[in-house]
Amino acid sequence: MQTAIKQNTFADDVMKGLSGTPKFLSSKYFYDDEGSRLFLEIMKLPEYYLTRAETEIFSTQTRQIFEAFAENAAGFDLIELGAGDGSKTSLLVDFFLKQNAVFKYVPIDISAEALNLLTENFQAKFPTLSIQSEQGDYFQTLETFKSKFDRRKIILFLGSNIGNFAADQAVVFFKSLREVMNPNDLLFVGFDLQKNPRQIRQAYDDKQGVTAQFNLNLLTRINRELGANFSVPDFSHYATYHPIDGAARSFLISRKAQTVSIEVLNRQFEFADWEPIFMEISQKYSQPMIENLAKTSGFEVSQYFFDGQKFYSNALWKPV
Ligand code: AVJ
Repeated sequence: MQTAIKQNTFADDVMKGLSGTPKFLSSKYFYDDEGSRLFLEIMKLPEYYLTRAETEIFSTQTRQIFEAFAENAAGFDLIELGAGDGSKTSLLVDFFLKQNAVFKYVPIDISAEALNLLTENFQAKFPTLSIQSEQGDYFQTLETFKSKFDRRKIILFLGSNIGNFAADQAVVFFKSLREVMNPNDLLFVGFDLQKNPRQIRQAYDDKQGVTAQFNLNLLTRINRELGANFSVPDFSHYATYHPIDGAARSFLISRKAQTVSIEVLNRQFEFADWEPIFMEISQKYSQPMIENLAKTSGFEVSQYFFDGQKFYSNALWKPV
């Protein structure tokens, strides 16, 4: 008998997080329509170097990436986890098509709206490309991978999205990916590298306050979707970077003692003055950490691609 993995609902997770000590909320809920719009703004901020660094790698080393993927003449499925607007991948797709590569593009995203936009854009730009988009959570869609794809799989997990997993969760995630991969498949992962701690912290504490809005928007979402009465101005965004563990973390701090009611949960939550809610981890990696993570999860690093400043790396992993 197949047991379905129970998916927590937004309400379950908010209940759990706000009942805990310390309180926490999951950054995976940042991306409602407003949150997705704010994230697009973040990617353009002067402080947020990650997107520019990864785009530099994709635009200056397109051929090398293609050569690493295309090992032999056989066709492949290019599967992207958390595709978003697919803007970096379109650089690869454009080049691959010009090389007459035989492949299908499979963007996977939790947001149906993002997938529709991406599909429209890609169809207009690349009329000959075959696209098979999949809407859902990474873990849900992973389960169907083995039966769905018969060609060589090249799995993209870009944008430092892995940073939102704590170290132990990252291992669980990569192990479950490994299980649905065959020996000839490849995994291409975007890692933000450890660098000047001030520069990292500033990427999560921009001058214009867009990142603060991005975090606070989750309270607005809870107000709207779960009937809560968070007074958003009574919370403020606080971002840290810890150079020993390599983690940027963000918090919302309750600026005063206050009580918040959440109708759908039929509960009230007390906040002490200056009590934090842990919102997000954005893990930064060193090369030894990447190698260690690969090894523990059943892979080896076959190649690194870096931007000119070595702020960021896309690492190509092979199953072992
Ligand atoms: C989309 C997870 C890569 O952690 O850098 C940006 C999200 N949070 N600014 C990151 C984010 C605050 C971003 N990732």
